[in-house]
Amino acid sequence: MQTPVTILILAAGLGTRMKSRRAKVLHRVGGRTLIEHVVETALAAAPAADVFVVVGRQAEQVQAAVADCGVGFIHQAEQGGTGHAVMVCRERLAARPGLLVVLYGDCPLLEPATVRELIEREAGSPAAATVITTTLEDPTGYGRVLRDEAGGVRAIVEQQAGTPAELAVREINSGIYCFRAELLWAHLEQVQPDNPAREYYLTDIVEILGRAGHGVQPYHLSDPSEVLGINTRLELAQVDRLFRERKVRELMLEGVTVEKPETVLVDARATIGMDTVIEPFAQILGRTRIGEDCRIGAGAIIRDSELADGVEIGPYTIIQASRIERGARVGPYARLRLGAHVAEGAQVGNFVELKKTRLGPGSKSMHLAYLGDAEIGAGVNIGAGTITCNYDGQSKHPTRIGDRVFVGSNATLVAPLDIGEGSYIAAGSTITDPVPPDALALGRARQVNKADWAKKRRAKAPTSAKCAKET
Ligand code: UD1
Ligand code: CA
Repeated sequence: MQTPVTILILAAGLGTRMKSRRAKVLHRVGGRTLIEHVVETALAAAPAADVFVVVGRQAEQVQAAVADCGVGFIHQAEQGGTGHAVMVCRERLAARPGLLVVLYGDCPLLEPATVRELIEREAGSPAAATVITTTLEDPTGYGRVLRDEAGGVRAIVEQQAGTPAELAVREINSGIYCFRAELLWAHLEQVQPDNPAREYYLTDIVEILGRAGHGVQPYHLSDPSEVLGINTRLELAQVDRLFRERKVRELMLEGVTVEKPETVLVDARATIGMDTVIEPFAQILGRTRIGEDCRIGAGAIIRDSELADGVEIGPYTIIQASRIERGARVGPYARLRLGAHVAEGAQVGNFVELKKTRLGPGSKSMHLAYLGDAEIGAGVNIGAGTITCNYDGQSKHPTRIGDRVFVGSNATLVAPLDIGEGSYIAAGSTITDPVPPDALALGRARQVNKADWAKKRRAKAPTSAKCAKET
């Protein structure tokens, strides 16, 4: 039988060094909060394990961030240090047999495979615990790993408590451990706040276990990037950059062309199909799904949207919560929002905004239009300057435009409105009444030409104007 595994994520601290009113684990890297990343890693690493999160500062918001992940929460009312954060879990967790993995909520780059390897190493060894360590050029701020003659971990000393010789060590504690649960709970109460910060350091458990005759083994990672902890905004930006690089690299290896990848921002959950080309400075955010063979123009921002295969997005187009079907073209400089839906082969051009509007198959709105709360059929042409007047100051009203309608330039369509299929709307019209199918609707004053009006005006003009013209 496999050893049961429980995973505990410490996320109760405020993160004083962030200088923020927001709890540290609610800050974002790669488009997601730190806590979401760590919870996802835990769940992916050990799907059979129960995962608990220790919350304290802004507990409600932290819980809300991972509410739908099926994890348990344990409250640490006052933050007495990482050791204290584990102590408050005794009641809920101490009866659980097997292995207890501890992760810190401020370490979002950690990969599930590394956690799996950590668990396997601990399960296959007599050690009381396995600690992930790595070696840093500049270890400042991290706990230093002191080894014994046999290469085991003898102790971890914190920055504030170390002697100069200890602080010269460049091997650091990642804050990721796998304990034999029973041994941890048997010795945890011996951790005392006998350090300059008056905190209960979980790291003291290593020395305590050693004194009781239990070894702790290191699991040293040669690449430190995965275990970088975030304590300041500077580190937040550095880790965010690593995230972006990791994601873009993954995409490129899966067959996406990314031009100037260092300028492109893709959130962790976004997916992009093969042979799609991403131009510089594009941002693909949230749960966006992009199909194959698409082109995403420079500076385009796409959030929580779905693009089928063969879609082309022109530069500087902003798309939010919208859907674009196969072969459609949108932009440059277009804006789609709140459930806009561009059907197969339709085209949306520059300075066109679509809100809660469906543009049917093969329909076009190429320049300067606002189409809100509209249901537009197939093969429709929307002229430049067309506006749906969907709002009367109190409520929003729908506009329905049938198949093959031709809306002339600068039409003002006052909703609620029905335009029957195959009809024409004359340019410059203000349309307030329903238009029957196949009709021509004219909603503007007839043009009047006044013969010789300009000539007469010039004749009446004062002489100075005439002189000016003659000299
Ligand atoms: C900790 C380790 C250090 C290690 C580093 C790795 C200790 C004493 N030190 O230092 O050896 O090199 O992480 O990044 O463990 N937390 C609580 N409750 C508390 C205090 C903290 O839940 O009372 C949580 C925080 O929210 C955070 C995590 O524990 O997610 C780590 O706390 P932090 O203060 O960042 O520890 P470091 O000083 O970075
Ligand atoms: Ca930290």
